[in-house]
Amino acid sequence: MSFVIAIDGPAASGKGTISRRLARENGFHHLDTGLTYRAVAKALLDQNLPLDDVSIAEKTAYELDLSDLDPEVLAVHEIGNAASKVAVMSSVRKILVKAQQDFSLKLPGAVLDGRDIGTVVCPNADVKIFVTADADVRAKRRYDEAVSKGRDLNYDHVLADIKARDARDSERKDSPMRQADDALLLDTSKMDIETAFQAAKAMVDAAKNA
Ligand code: DC
Repeated sequence: MSFVIAIDGPAASGKGTISRRLARENGFHHLDTGLTYRAVAKALLDQNLPLDDVSIAEKTAYELDLSDLDPEVLAVHEIGNAASKVAVMSSVRKILVKAQQDFSLKLPGAVLDGRDIGTVVCPNADVKIFVTADADVRAKRRYDEAVSKGRDLNYDHVLADIKARDARDSERKDSPMRQADDALLLDTSKMDIETAFQAAKAMVDAAKNA
C-alpha cells in the first residue's frame, strides 16, 4: 500500500513548497491537484470556450494527461482565477478526483496537495495537514513574488483577489475547502518557509513512526 500525505489549504499558504519538499525528502510522488483544475481552465481559455459550459469542461477534463502538467505555464494568475470557476462544477470534479485518486496509489507513496484532499480525494490518507496563513500575509507573499519577477502589481488588488478566491473555494457546494476533522493545522502566518517545512516534516515523521 502506498503511504499518502494529504496537504490542503488556501492559495499562498506555503502548501505547494511544503508538499514538493516532503515528496523529495521521502522519495514519494507529488501531485499539485490545483494544476489539474488549472489545465482544464487553460484549455478552455486557449480555445475561447466558455468557463461555465459543463459538457465542454467535462470533455476537457477527460482528455487531461496528468503527466503533462507544466507548473510554469499554468502558474499565471488569470488561469488560477478561471480554475476556481471550473472547480465549482461537480461533474468536472468527479473526473479529476478519480484521476487524483489513481495517482495517490503510486508506490512507495504520494503527496497530494489541494483543497479537498483530506476530505474527499484521500479521506484515508496516512497523514493530513491543513496549511494556512492570514489573508494579508498570503497577499504580501504573492505580491513580493510577482515584484521579484519584475511584474507590476497592485497589493490591494492581490489581497482582494485572494479573498475572492478563498470565498469561492470555501463557499462552493461541492467539496468546499475545509480542514478535515483529523487533519493537523499548520498556520504559517509567522513562519518562514523553512520553519513551516520543518513543522510539516515533524508531523509526517510522527505519522510514519506511529
Ligand atoms: O491551488 P491552485 O491555486 O493551483 O488552485 C487553483 C484552483 O483550483 C483553486 O481556486 C481551487 C481549485 N482547486 C480545487 O477546487 N480543488 C483542489 N483539490 C485543488 C484546486
